[in-house]
Amino acid sequence: MVDMKKGRGIVAAAEPLAAGVGTDILRQGGNAIDAAVAIGFALAVTYPAAGNLGGGGFLVGSIGREKKQRSEVSLDFREVAPGAATSDMYTQAAAAGNRSASLLGHLAAGVPGSVSGMLTALERWGTMTRRQVIEPARLLAQGGFLLPARTHRMLVASKKSMLRFEATADTFFPDGAVIGEGKLFRQPDLARTLEIIIERGIAGFYDGEVADHIVIEMKRGGGLISAKDLLDYRPVERKPIRFPISNGSAVSMPPPSSGGICLAQMSRMLERFKIGSTDAESPQLYHLLAEVMRLSFADRNQYLGDPDHVACPLEMLQDKKRLDRLAATIDRSSASSSADLLKDSPPVKESEQTTHYSVIDCHGNGVAVTTTLNGSFGSKVLVPAAGFLLNNEMDDFTAHPGEPNLFGLIQGSANAVAPGKRPLSSMSPTVLLDEEGNVDAVLGTPGGPTIITNVFQVLLGLTRLGLSPENSITAPKIHHQCLPDRIFLEAAVPTSTEQSLLALGHVCARRSAIGDFQLIARTPHRGLVGVADPRGGGVVSNT
Ligand code: DON
Repeated sequence: MVDMKKGRGIVAAAEPLAAGVGTDILRQGGNAIDAAVAIGFALAVTYPAAGNLGGGGFLVGSIGREKKQRSEVSLDFREVAPGAATSDMYTQAAAAGNRSASLLGHLAAGVPGSVSGMLTALERWGTMTRRQVIEPARLLAQGGFLLPARTHRMLVASKKSMLRFEATADTFFPDGAVIGEGKLFRQPDLARTLEIIIERGIAGFYDGEVADHIVIEMKRGGGLISAKDLLDYRPVERKPIRFPISNGSAVSMPPPSSGGICLAQMSRMLERFKIGSTDAESPQLYHLLAEVMRLSFADRNQYLGDPDHVACPLEMLQDKKRLDRLAATIDRSSASSSADLLKDSPPVKESEQTTHYSVIDCHGNGVAVTTTLNGSFGSKVLVPAAGFLLNNEMDDFTAHPGEPNLFGLIQGSANAVAPGKRPLSSMSPTVLLDEEGNVDAVLGTPGGPTIITNVFQVLLGLTRLGLSPENSITAPKIHHQCLPDRIFLEAAVPTSTEQSLLALGHVCARRSAIGDFQLIARTPHRGLVGVADPRGGGVVSNT
């Protein structure tokens, strides 16, 4: 935790070296976008489980040189399905004996968006050159750094599947053994890719040597990404979702993320109920939360997908009367049931391989970025000679209709696979504004669908429960996603609370820590306060 009353800015990120790169940029006079882009490239080097060049993400910001010129923006640099993708490609692969094609190996990868997204953000809202913001990452790749315990642990956990891919094995398991904790980890191929991107910009990744390496590897491994898919990739600037909160508004990511819509829905439904600081961590509040989460996820899984491919009924989903009607169905004394909506499914699997970072600069600009390869180390396919891993984001589509995905989500036809389409996401980078439009907080976390419910609980802690930034993060979290029909409880939720929830008719399931939150929030007496979630290994860095 770091307080900042005066200074050039503050960063909260899941990996210390990358956070330090961000504050160095702020110290040199860069703005929050310059810092965010530099952190994004640095994480691709220092946090390979989630940071990436071969994945995608979302950026939400309140940006402008002067307060009066500041506006709320969102940039979608989500991966897209290759041109040759089909809606039944994964059921066909399963019928042919490959049940994990959407998760592991070449077919799992969507066309990466990160490089195009980061460089578009830099051009559009940044002030520095590509060299200035990417060089720190290149140096970390070239010179190496001491492998942190966390990455070592993640590599051990993924060893078996990573060893199936030669270039992946060579990079992370030289001589067959995982790189030791605290050992120097150098990535010369990745350094070279970064140099090419510095020199040639977006084309350096999507057209030329690096693109050729991707396409050759796809052909070799039976993947679909073509040279044309890479040339055609474009990030999309979208109108953020904005909804009222006490003393201001929240700005979050629109489809193809479900985050903004679900947050807006849950926030509106909860307005009906009087809650205050004495309700924090109470079974009564957890019950209400679970019920609004259930209702919102039912909508999410039915109606949302890529807005450029399917009609997402955003007005209907945010319609106040409809939300009030839904909220009126909530019974404070007993749990409702998702059973009538869809069949039950296995529990959510654990995964922590996405990453979020938050930045506020001295001009008051706030930037929230969540970026991912989806699963841990993505598809596990490292592009030979280019040194980066490819995502397995295709599993976020309704890859196997009627069946749960990696996160236990059962999704509908709105999110079916189609060429050039973006898979529905839960990533929810969010900025809170006060009534005058000043940035009050920057929020976000990894965690698949728990991203939405975690961001919601932190938002609630800050805005309605009167919690400090620290307590809003450390408060035990719960999660409900409609199906499976159960409340997931972090270990820190007391047994007595679980008993009360059981008595209300909920099915409860314990799970490990939820999320790795990176928060910056303005407080009345302490100025800007950054909090890196103690559940993860991140830091707050200020200058
Ligand atoms: O976009 C999504 O919703 C997922 N691909 C995010 C994955 C994730 O957060 C995994 N890490 N916990």
